[in-house]
Amino acid sequence: MNKIRPVPRHHADGLDTNTTDASSAGLTRRKTLLGLAVGGATVALSGSLLGCATPSDESEASSSEDGSSVDFDLAVAAPGASSVYPFALPALGFAHDAIEAVVDARTMEIHHGKHHQGYTNKLNAALEGNAEVQGKSLLTLLSGLQDLPDSVRTAVRNNGGGYLNHSLFWPLLAPGGGTSPEGGLAAAIDEQFGSVDGFRETFATQAKGLFGSGWAWLSADSTGALQITRYANQDTPLSSGLKPVLGIDVWEHAYYLKYQNRRGDYVNNFLDTVNWSQASANFAA
Ligand SMILES: [Fe+2]
Repeated sequence: MNKIRPVPRHHADGLDTNTTDASSAGLTRRKTLLGLAVGGATVALSGSLLGCATPSDESEASSSEDGSSVDFDLAVAAPGASSVYPFALPALGFAHDAIEAVVDARTMEIHHGKHHQGYTNKLNAALEGNAEVQGKSLLTLLSGLQDLPDSVRTAVRNNGGGYLNHSLFWPLLAPGGGTSPEGGLAAAIDEQFGSVDGFRETFATQAKGLFGSGWAWLSADSTGALQITRYANQDTPLSSGLKPVLGIDVWEHAYYLKYQNRRGDYVNNFLDTVNWSQASANFAA
């Protein structure tokens, strides 16, 4: 199990909410408060305008505000996922056409074999010749982006994040059809969202509303409290001190051949196909 040191969780001051936009180390944000009607209730959101920060941004380089950290075990990732350099493309775990009703085989073939392979190759290329960074685990790299040399930080953030996000994403798809949350995760969802349907409605709203390319994640903090967090590009919950539980890739490469501009249909079908046993294992990892 890997102990990771988080960087600050970026949420609006004084908000009591389990939904937020997030950014990882090296980002700054200007906070705006938005109101969103979800399931008849109004949930306060932390909207963000993200921009690149300089490496000397001390406010982004400290640990989380409560000094806590989360544990996460990469063993829950797709079979063959690497924890250290050199990184290898993990197995998809099912045939390209196994979830045809949700995502077509051609998309799965390209997504896994080209995009995920691309992140893998570029991550390895970035670390090639840098023995010091090669010796660090992927979780250490992603949770300590601010500690990396300038020469590799952006590449690790983008390609390391892409490598990890996709390695966690494939096992969250259930070729045999969606299941139900189990154990501690089931209880936490009921406590924080009222029901699985309540979670689903909030998560879908966040995933559909994410501007541009990125991910929506159900994550857990060091106390096990859940929150739904949106990330631009290939940023990961780990980089903001959160444990990834259930994520959806809303880059167009994940769905465009089948859905074109209908991201909402893709999100809804994904939620019908969640491998909640995997999500429950992630929560417990
Ligand atoms: Fe992707």
